[in-house]
Amino acid sequence: MRDALGTVQSVLVLGGSSEIGVATAARLVRARHGAVVLAGRDSAALEPVAERLRAAGAGDVDVVAFDADDTDRCVAVVDEVFDAREIDVVVLAVGVLGDQQRSEEDPRAAVAVLRTNFLGCAAAALSAARRLRRQGHGTLVVLSSVAGERVRRSNFVYGASKAGLDGLAQGLGDSLVGTGAHVLVVRPGFVTTKMTAGMTPAPFATTPEAVAAAIDGALRRGADTVWVPGVLRLVMAVVRHLPRALFRRLPL
Ligand SMILES: NC(=O)c1ccc[n+]([C@@H]2O[C@H](COP(=O)([O-])OP(=O)(O)OC[C@H]3O[C@@H](n4cnc5c(N)ncnc54)[C@H](OP(=O)(O)O)[C@@H]3O)[C@@H](O)[C@H]2O)c1
Repeated sequence: MRDALGTVQSVLVLGGSSEIGVATAARLVRARHGAVVLAGRDSAALEPVAERLRAAGAGDVDVVAFDADDTDRCVAVVDEVFDAREIDVVVLAVGVLGDQQRSEEDPRAAVAVLRTNFLGCAAAALSAARRLRRQGHGTLVVLSSVAGERVRRSNFVYGASKAGLDGLAQGLGDSLVGTGAHVLVVRPGFVTTKMTAGMTPAPFATTPEAVAAAIDGALRRGADTVWVPGVLRLVMAVVRHLPRALFRRLPL
């Protein structure tokens, strides 16, 4: 449970090798040497990540096997983590960008992106929310994206998966009002991580550390939503309302 100053003592990162997820966990627990659970597909690859978190000030760091595409197991893994300890913050950082062109040529590739980013993440989010509600405290941080706020032709499969997840997270947050549990929806723009490696940074590109700082601030404020960087809130307020005939002509 958070201490009297509201400092986070334990974090579960679903998508434990995510650069945004790890930066967020490091930032949240460093002050009080809090505990971190890294849940990811490749446990061996997570060990060096765990070591880096310890070096950055985390206390206990555990690694658990977790594949969001195996939704039954995904629910069970979340239960096992919560059975072992209280969790103050769950960071849902699972995501794949996919290959838009391949998705348009092979519907199975599109379905794989949608399965991970929507169905898998929905299973993880609902599992975590159920346990946070039962605990009576804690926040689920959902990594959405500005890509889901106005779905673009150039990456509409990824964008649609994020739009679905964003909607689910908002409704889930509303359903938790009064329970002590909370959902924070995070909408970053372009973040320089392995997901975007090799791509030309978009305007307002940012870093995992900046996203972590924004999440930290939003948690302290008890916010429901945060855009990173914050200016994207204004940009998207305009973009969201552009007529489609105009929007589809933009080089986005
Ligand atoms: N980078 C950006 O520009 C950006 C912008 C907006 C939103 N986001 C979102 O932020 C989140 C974190 O992304 P990131 O930038 O930190 O990228 P990242 O470092 O590539 O992290 C993505 C994570 O998702 C995990 N993952 C993928 N499929 C999985 C599955 N089936 N089961 C379990 N884990 C799975 C990956 O694990 P493996 O190591 O096993 O592949 C990795 O840990 C994602 O939801 C992403 O969509 C990113």
